[in-house]
Amino acid sequence: MQRTKALIENYYEAFNRQDTSALLELLHDEIVHDINQGSKETGKKDFAAFLERMHRCYKETVKDLIVMVNKNGAHASAEFMIDGTYIATDQGLPPASNQHYELLCGAFFAIKHGKISRVTMYYNLNDWIKQIKPPETATKFKILHLKGNEILPYVSSLANLRMQVFREYPYLYDSTLDYETNYLQTYVTSPECVMVLVLDNQQVVGASTGLPMQFEKAEFQKPFIDKNFNIQDIFYLGESVLLPTYRRQGIYHHFFYEREAAAKKFGAKMTVFCAVDRSLDDPLDPRRPKDYAPLDSYWERLGYVKHPELCAYIERKEVGEKTASLKSRVFWLKTL
Ligand SMILES: CC(C)(COP(=O)(O)OP(=O)(O)OC[C@H]1O[C@@H](n2cnc3c(N)ncnc32)[C@H](O)[C@@H]1OP(=O)(O)O)[C@@H](O)C(=O)NCCC(=O)NCCS
Repeated sequence: MQRTKALIENYYEAFNRQDTSALLELLHDEIVHDINQGSKETGKKDFAAFLERMHRCYKETVKDLIVMVNKNGAHASAEFMIDGTYIATDQGLPPASNQHYELLCGAFFAIKHGKISRVTMYYNLNDWIKQIKPPETATKFKILHLKGNEILPYVSSLANLRMQVFREYPYLYDSTLDYETNYLQTYVTSPECVMVLVLDNQQVVGASTGLPMQFEKAEFQKPFIDKNFNIQDIFYLGESVLLPTYRRQGIYHHFFYEREAAAKKFGAKMTVFCAVDRSLDDPLDPRRPKDYAPLDSYWERLGYVKHPELCAYIERKEVGEKTASLKSRVFWLKTL
């Protein structure tokens, strides 16, 4: 009994130290992991992947641990409090912005040959979601989720917003109201499109779009058709634009979360977006703001992978250019 108690205590001590190799040492090779309201996983490789995701998305400490063991030491249970911070958005869960939470948890263990052979976790997921609701800063804006005709009243202010943000680095597009209004028509007429709008006092200050690839323009579909993708599987995420004063408050997380949820609901197998790629530009380019930071690592954190072989070519005029020409955009893909 004492050995089993020490085993479970060591397990949580290793978890608190984020010492993955020490924790894996305590597990049986055939470890079965029943994830709370999730799937059953088997083997140390899956457990290691689970721990990697946990430590990347959450900073958690197990407190007030109580371990109970049965007579022959083959079974144990534990009750404890998790003191946590949600540091990076976990797949399929609401956006992270360092929200703090405290969660009462229960776990059941089976022991074989002195190692943990099963972990079954229980906690109240709804309670956790309630605790990590968007922080005050984000809720002072209204975030709307619109479709089709609902977008119509906002088309003109949205076109203006896109024009304004596109003039900045990295886009540097010299767009026109006509071009943007025309582009937005696709969203008004496509039944499965999604538009996430950020309103402050009825003024549109941010927006992000998405729609099934089959309804997008031919130039966005072409690279996928050329590489034999099934267009029906793909949900296209359009540009995200936000006025500068509303940035760095976590709104981009909401843009991705809402659009990926719409893609899943539609039944898409992957979400894709295409980004202006200025990675080869001169870092001293005077058009590049001094505090500009590429978003690549953020997109990777969300599970997107850059595919330089998938490029869209779009007719656009850049600021300072006399005429429009084809500008390349590189696709990023995520399997849902
Ligand atoms: C891209 C844009 C919508 C981001 O909106 P935002 O609400 O400021 O972004 P968030 O506050 O949600 O930040 C999301 C992540 O982006 C990264 N990020 C955003 N702005 C950044 C900046 N100025 N410097 C470094 N990282 C930045 C961070 O990694 C951040 O994640 P973290 O908070 O977990 O570290 C906004 O900056 C914008 O409109 N930019 C111009 C248009 C554009 O480039 N669109 C993107 C391509 S479609």
